[in-house]
Amino acid sequence: MDSMASAPGKAILFGEHAVVYDKPAIALAINKRATITIKESHKDYTSIKSDNIGLEAIISPETGLKLKKGEIGILNYILKALEFYHDSKPIKIKLEIEIPIGAGLGSSAAVTVATIAALDKYHKRKTTLPSIAKRAHKVELEVQGAASPLDTSISTHGGLIYLNEEKKIDQIKGDLKDSLVIGYTQSEDTAKMVKLVKERMERHPTIINHIMDAIAHTTKKAKKALETNDKECLGELMNINQGLLDAIGVNTRSLSDMIYTSREAGALGSKITGAGGGGSIIAYSPNRTRKIIETLKRKGYNAMKADPSKKGVIIE
Ligand code: MEV
Repeated sequence: MDSMASAPGKAILFGEHAVVYDKPAIALAINKRATITIKESHKDYTSIKSDNIGLEAIISPETGLKLKKGEIGILNYILKALEFYHDSKPIKIKLEIEIPIGAGLGSSAAVTVATIAALDKYHKRKTTLPSIAKRAHKVELEVQGAASPLDTSISTHGGLIYLNEEKKIDQIKGDLKDSLVIGYTQSEDTAKMVKLVKERMERHPTIINHIMDAIAHTTKKAKKALETNDKECLGELMNINQGLLDAIGVNTRSLSDMIYTSREAGALGSKITGAGGGGSIIAYSPNRTRKIIETLKRKGYNAMKADPSKKGVIIE
């Protein structure tokens, strides 16, 4: 039987990096998705194809993996999910993805979540959201070596979530429609950025621990600002979080330029979203997203509106 599942990308609003040190974080699912379709194959190999990112690979019992077109990057997540949650029966896998890849917007988590969910349907397995999120986190950990459960949780559950210190997830209220712009470039490897922060932590433990605590306070206050729709406060807290991310060493010149460009164009707040070192920024500008997008684009950056997605993984 054919099976299809899709899952959204994400943007972290507060608490990236600090979440690795068991601090809280706030993230939202965005309206850009990855879709995986699985069909039975009558060939003696499994094929994986994505027209929109120019990817083609086959896996055969005789020759193993053969990459015919594209890069291995995102494919690693599909391969690991197949290794863990599929038998050796040949299948045809199609990937369609709207999330910019390698920009810190959760493309790998979305592909992993969608692959696991589609495999569950294909194998007629009873599945639950917590189980999908848990297995997707396992795949990310295997592929990346280090990852908090934030990306895979938000991609599975959707909405706007608060991940607390005990890694418990709560959906929270927040009006972010028509408010968010993402500016993006190619990102640095997340694992590399996490390691860089760890090294700074080892050199200056007292200072960096205080910064992580300050990020945690910012995140907690931002939760209240979201729940009360205090826009000015939310924007200011984003700018504070940005200063703290700069202090832990994940900012770059082009991220800074995108951040200040969006503030000058009227954003109430803007900051890195995700691992930094390249990658993406998020700007908060209720009802004035167009101006921010135009200004960023005029400067040669990629920019798009990011509306929240209530839906997490969808199995069809
Ligand atoms: C990456 O999207 C977010 C980080 O906090 C790493 C992680 O949570 O695994 C930088």
